[in-house]
Amino acid sequence: MSGVWGSNIKLSIFGESHGGAIGINISGLPVGKAIDEEEIYKEMQRRAPGRSNLATARKEEDRVEILSGVFNGKTTGAPLCGIIRNNDTRSKDYSKLKDVMRPSHSDYPASVKYKGFNDYRGGGHFSGRITAPLVFAGAIAKSILKEKGIKIGAHIKSIADIEDEEFNPIYIDSTVLDTLKEKDLPLIDDNKKALMEHRILSAKMEGDSVGGVIQCAITGVEVGVGDPFFDSLESTIAHLAFSVPAVKGIEFGKGFELSKLKGSEANDSYYYEGEKIATKTNNNGGILGGLTNGMPVLFNVAIKPTASIIKYQDTVDIDKKEDTKLQIEGRHDPCIVTRAVVVIEAIAALALLDLMEGEF
Ligand SMILES: Cc1cc2nc3c(=O)[nH]c(=O)nc-3n(C[C@H](O)[C@H](O)[C@H](O)COP(=O)(O)O)c2cc1C
Repeated sequence: MSGVWGSNIKLSIFGESHGGAIGINISGLPVGKAIDEEEIYKEMQRRAPGRSNLATARKEEDRVEILSGVFNGKTTGAPLCGIIRNNDTRSKDYSKLKDVMRPSHSDYPASVKYKGFNDYRGGGHFSGRITAPLVFAGAIAKSILKEKGIKIGAHIKSIADIEDEEFNPIYIDSTVLDTLKEKDLPLIDDNKKALMEHRILSAKMEGDSVGGVIQCAITGVEVGVGDPFFDSLESTIAHLAFSVPAVKGIEFGKGFELSKLKGSEANDSYYYEGEKIATKTNNNGGILGGLTNGMPVLFNVAIKPTASIIKYQDTVDIDKKEDTKLQIEGRHDPCIVTRAVVVIEAIAALALLDLMEGEF
């Protein structure tokens, strides 16, 4: 099992949902970069469980202990390791899940691949909890990128069939991104808040779950970040996005909708904005040939409805080797989207930092 990613920075992620701690080791960070622990804590709180009735009732403070790589508040260049202790575990809720497989969760393939030795409590290493260290690493990446005027922000584009407005694809004011960060439900159109909350809570009341889409924007990136082929900005972001549990789709710019347009409708025409070259539309989401083109980078990520639902489901018992019914106990998110917004921002920051590492 590999928990390592990155070409220039290297992330090594570890931990299980109900183990002692979760964490991440980050190698290859630029030196002398200020680490603002309060800013990191704020970011962690955007993902932390137990903050509202829209999320799991598990309560974790998610304060990161930085064990290495920081001296006098600045990065030293040595591997930076941060850990987060697990406090609120209730492993008995998971005892029957050793043998009875949750549909749409990792239980079945993980049990086969790891010969039943995998820690199944709370989903073990497959748990959404392991995205907390990604948010920590992402907070560091964001603060480094900010030096170059790069900002990253995301909002809930949709939950089930309720849609928020989209980012203006050609110009995103940085105050829009700053404001989103402060909201418990990050929406551009706050009038949709009550509808979305209602959709999540009615699914929860029915013992069910809902999914949705997160739209992420990166602003202030110079032209030319990325590479063609294997290290294109799209493939780097997509690699990390699909590392986030429950992500089942990604599209850049207009994505799948582009396939229905003619070239004349899809092409982003150029024009001079003073000295600067800009495009009149941004259907390509700010990336051409794997490289940034100076327009906002925009991508959407589809999050599936939470697998662990209370409703009875058909499944199998791999110990008794028979079909069975399952009613899942334990504490689960009725909708993962609300907590995943900051995770998607984090992976965008890490992807960009990996591609730009030599520039800091
Ligand atoms: C922030 C976050 C929270 C999550 N919470 C839950 C949860 O409460 N219950 C659950 O079944 N899955 C949850 N997941 C998703 C599962 O970990 C994921 O669906 C599972 O590992 C199977 O992987 P896959 O959906 O990527 O195929 C969460 C994911 C994230 C990113």
